Amino acid sequence: MRFARSRLTVPYIDDPALEARMIVEHFSGASRAEAISSPNRLIPAEALAAIDAALRRRLAHEPVHRIFGHREFYGLDLLLSPETLEPRPDTETLVETMLPVISETVARKGECRILDLGTGTGAIALALLSEVERALATGVDISEDALETAALNAGRVGLGERFTPLRSDWFANIFERFDAIVSNPPYIPAKHIDNLQADVRDFDPRRALDGGEDGLDAYRLISEGAHRCLAAGGTIGVEIGYDQKDAVTGIFQRAGYRLIKAVRDIAGNDRVLMFQESRPEDA
Ligand SMILES: C[S@@+](CC[C@H](N)C(=O)[O-])C[C@H]1O[C@@H](n2cnc3c(N)ncnc32)[C@H](O)[C@@H]1O
Repeated sequence: MRFARSRLTVPYIDDPALEARMIVEHFSGASRAEAISSPNRLIPAEALAAIDAALRRRLAHEPVHRIFGHREFYGLDLLLSPETLEPRPDTETLVETMLPVISETVARKGECRILDLGTGTGAIALALLSEVERALATGVDISEDALETAALNAGRVGLGERFTPLRSDWFANIFERFDAIVSNPPYIPAKHIDNLQADVRDFDPRRALDGGEDGLDAYRLISEGAHRCLAAGGTIGVEIGYDQKDAVTGIFQRAGYRLIKAVRDIAGNDRVLMFQESRPEDA
């Protein structure tokens, strides 16, 4: 099986009955198995009020993990805050794709320095650090709130010493080189944002979604800026929208990179592209 050894999260399926059960379990502290084995168990009034309030929030489209305030990503329990994107299972494809590169760099150099551009909750960087002991990551975001949350998450999962949060507009405040650059940048075309599901449009931060007129602004900026911050032989891995493979590949090729790998997510959509700087023989 393709992901037999991975910690991939089961994709989240929009299932009202499942979500209602998750809310009841979360606020009552009783699992479904316990509810079945102890059907007469009394739920305290405060828990009932919390369940009621949570169900009302969900009916107003707030995603269930935002209500809980945290979400699992690649086996890590990560806090969410107003300016963090809720990390998605699709993004675990980027982690899976980059892990062999990070491990191989550690084997060769004794360490691997990772730059996570638009780190949000810190999801991608922390997942990579959790799997490769001698890797170090800098998580960049333009949002102070996201960086505070990423730093808290790093501490919570015991990776605070290997994770550095840094406020920067993409590469503006980066003055060193990294073995791997990873990013899940905003990539929704601005004109599509109003038509997104209310759960996403009204609760994920716009700055985490809006990729400019054609959705590709961040890829242009990242491909242009990366030469200054990528170590020799380094690798870039980016998440993309399902229909952006050709456009993003073209942007990176024109900026002087070659496509190393294109990977689909569990649903079969193009999701991750991996690039390295072009060699003379690629010309
Ligand atoms: C799609 S979210 C990805 C969050 C996280 N990496 C993940 O995969 O769950 C994009 C992130 O890029 C950040 N961002 C947007 N514009 C930025 C900029 N100009 N410089 C740095 N980060 C930016 C947003 O704040 C957001 O956290």
